[in-house]
Amino acid sequence: MKHLLLAAALSFSMLSVHAADANYNVVPLPKSVMMAKGKPFNLTSATTIVYEGTNPEMKRNARFLSEYIEQVAGIRTSLLDKRDKKAAAIVLTIDPKVTGAEAYRLSVNNKQVTIAASTPAGVFYGIQTLRKSLPVQTNGADVTLPAVTVADEPRFGYRGMMLDCARHFFPLSFVKKFIDILALHNMNVFHWHLTEDQGWRLEIKSHPELTAKSSMRSGTVIGHNAMVDDSIPHGGFYTQQEAREIVEYARQRHITVIPEIDMPGHMLAALAAYPELGCSGGPYEVGHRWGVYKDVLCLGKESTYKFVQDVIDEVVDIFPAKYFHIGGDETPTIMWEKCPRCIQKAKDENTDIKHLQQYFTNRIEKYLNSKGKSIIGWDEILEGKINQSATIMAWRGEKNGFDGAIKGHDVVMTPSSHVYFDHYQAEDHAHEPDAIGGFSPVEKVYSYEPIPESLPADAKKRIFGVQANLWTEYIPYTTQAEYMIMPRMAALAEVQWTPAAKKNFDDFSKRAHRLSDLYDRYGYQYARHLWKDKAIPTSAVW
Ligand code: ACM
Ligand code: ZN
Repeated sequence: MKHLLLAAALSFSMLSVHAADANYNVVPLPKSVMMAKGKPFNLTSATTIVYEGTNPEMKRNARFLSEYIEQVAGIRTSLLDKRDKKAAAIVLTIDPKVTGAEAYRLSVNNKQVTIAASTPAGVFYGIQTLRKSLPVQTNGADVTLPAVTVADEPRFGYRGMMLDCARHFFPLSFVKKFIDILALHNMNVFHWHLTEDQGWRLEIKSHPELTAKSSMRSGTVIGHNAMVDDSIPHGGFYTQQEAREIVEYARQRHITVIPEIDMPGHMLAALAAYPELGCSGGPYEVGHRWGVYKDVLCLGKESTYKFVQDVIDEVVDIFPAKYFHIGGDETPTIMWEKCPRCIQKAKDENTDIKHLQQYFTNRIEKYLNSKGKSIIGWDEILEGKINQSATIMAWRGEKNGFDGAIKGHDVVMTPSSHVYFDHYQAEDHAHEPDAIGGFSPVEKVYSYEPIPESLPADAKKRIFGVQANLWTEYIPYTTQAEYMIMPRMAALAEVQWTPAAKKNFDDFSKRAHRLSDLYDRYGYQYARHLWKDKAIPTSAVW
């Protein structure tokens, strides 16, 4: 009996150091995972990662993979810039035959793991899949990679997340962490919301008061516009050098940063520093309360256009992205209606006050075009006659995206009905951090189909992107920001990447459970409603 027990204990301990298996059914689910016959590849500390050629992007890819393998599986690999035929290797290679700018092929046999793509970005996504396939472990035990061919590419070319750093300011370290989280979910656009009524967050050298004054509010309303203010100054801004650092950090992870300077509304913080840019001339104060403010840029003064152009000149120099987001949402006309200059401008431009924003949008677009940029705007810009070249970011519902595509605009879908991550993700609000309202659980995010079935085929093609937004009126903490985005970002990742026909929520839920082990590994905060074994008890403890 004693011997039997000993034998059982021994075999158990042998089992526990036995190589764990990789599983390629990751989030987002690849387009095709074909298990192959043949022996598996054994990933050990003797494995080398080989990047071929001298492309610095490929060398960086190799470094990322090596870091990931160590973080996830505790295995230290080494990097080589040439294949050593004798050593077991993971080979990263550029292969023009793998068509598609972000497509990759991951193949595994007992001798070699190969990640091939026609671009370093494609290789990067293959690396993300391999990273997420590994068992999360700390003991550094060997990992068995079953023989396979994964052939994968994204459904949408634009896969974005917006972070509002204006309602609450987040430190540079968190912006980088946010970008890391984007990379983990195969996303390639970071939409950076930098200006608001309640704070201006980017250094503009020609207008130093934007950082000296507009970046700080003297207090914040408590709760949902209660009649009490906390009187605690809140603010901060990113220097141009820091913004460039973010652009580079993102670029290394194959992510484009699209800056948003929201205009002509949501400009109260700027008006507080430069009151001559408003219709009434002020005085104005950086906003303490949430919602839409009536004071916006005066569109009747030429000095407003000069200000906007000065800002644009500096912003385009920092951000190399093709797109510049001009905001354009929630712009009341009430102050324009009383302003002789705005009234005159509308007359001069053969329009009416209600459509003065369209004049502004078209004029600013022309200026940005002269700088080699294309504009994106929130879907309110569709309310005027704007140029077809403007890209529409549809947030107030699918219909605006539908209409934009019909009118010939390119469209990014980001409907508040499904992908506003400032909404509650559970009905039991007592055990949730504060949210703006709504109810957008992970199931609802997952169910989102960005291409309306009734859209004609040529218009369907214009919907080229999907994005979720994290507005931060009620999100002062970075931990809370993490909780609000995960695992909803995992659901979004499958909306953006995985072929619609392959989506299945129950299956996703299991795969996302494995992904959450990785969230644990990185110490991310995340919502646990999907998984009973991960739920934090909400009952009282006394
Ligand atoms: C928005 O949510 N105001 C674009
Ligand atoms: Zn005016």
